[in-house]
Amino acid sequence: MALPNWYNEYKNLIESSIDTYLTRYLALPMSKPLEDFKEVISYGFSWWKKLRSILALEFYLSLSWKDISDIKIDDDIIKVCIALESVHAFSLLHDDLPCMDNDELRRWELTVWKKYGEHNWVLAGDMLNTLCFEIISDIKDPKMSQSISKLISHSVGFYGMVGGQIEDIYFENNIWELDTTLLSDLHAKKTGKLIQAAILSWVILSWEVANIDVYWDFWKKLGLAFQIKDDLLDVEGTPEETGKSVWGEEKWFVYLIWVDATRKILRDVISECHSIAKKLGSEKIDFIVDYVENRKK
Ligand code: IPE
Ligand code: IPE
Ligand code: MG
Ligand code: MG
Repeated sequence: MALPNWYNEYKNLIESSIDTYLTRYLALPMSKPLEDFKEVISYGFSWWKKLRSILALEFYLSLSWKDISDIKIDDDIIKVCIALESVHAFSLLHDDLPCMDNDELRRWELTVWKKYGEHNWVLAGDMLNTLCFEIISDIKDPKMSQSISKLISHSVGFYGMVGGQIEDIYFENNIWELDTTLLSDLHAKKTGKLIQAAILSWVILSWEVANIDVYWDFWKKLGLAFQIKDDLLDVEGTPEETGKSVWGEEKWFVYLIWVDATRKILRDVISECHSIAKKLGSEKIDFIVDYVENRKK
């Protein structure tokens, strides 16, 4: 699916900001192994779509009536975007581990453990996780920094990504215990909560509490749609298209209710997302909803 100019403009801004921040945070000349490790971190950080940070940026811009040209490298929203991508990259690094999904391909390239070896990949994940919170601690307003830190750590921890990954591994081996309610809850934790953090970061950056129920509904539905699509791509996609290994057989929703019913749930959830996007009044968020539904990778 072709990406519009604005999406690429946001993505370029986020990618160049990541480079600038990494150069800053890793600026001191170090020993040879640490200089080599800088390369591992950059490689691990290069993951592609930037969906969470683009959501955060668009919520921030559209709801505060700003334009991308107003954004400066040291703005808090940039710190939030980089922090989200850093923690997301960490989650993928560890997700690809042999003891987790044992994947060798991501973003059309070798996974970090395959390219750089096991200790580098575990430590690069650790590093990206802590870097997220180092960047958030540099937000000038201490109350805002504390609230964003709480929001992201909650989305990654026991009630978020880590909790979802624990359930994911458990139910993979005990799939007969799973039903669609438990699975939706697993997806909300594993994938939805970081999307929630991206969307709700705007609430903290602006101290805006009106309309919170609209944002609340949106993350749940978009997170679910994103992961249902991911499950469908695991069945219908190819490594050439998706850039990562695919499961190749029925997984999660597709296992529980088969492909046609899964596609129908996806369409229903996506149409609810479109209704909410209309309420929010952003065509760009509406596009992101389409993108989540129609992406091939
Ligand atoms: C992959 O996320 C992990 C899931 C939550 C399914 P993305 O598909 O957003 O990964 P990148 O960042 O674009 O590689
Ligand atoms: C990864 O989930 C999601 C994380 C939260 C790390 P999956 O294992 O389903 O995603 P892919 O297919 O490897 O990207
Ligand atoms: Mg996994
Ligand atoms: Mg995986």
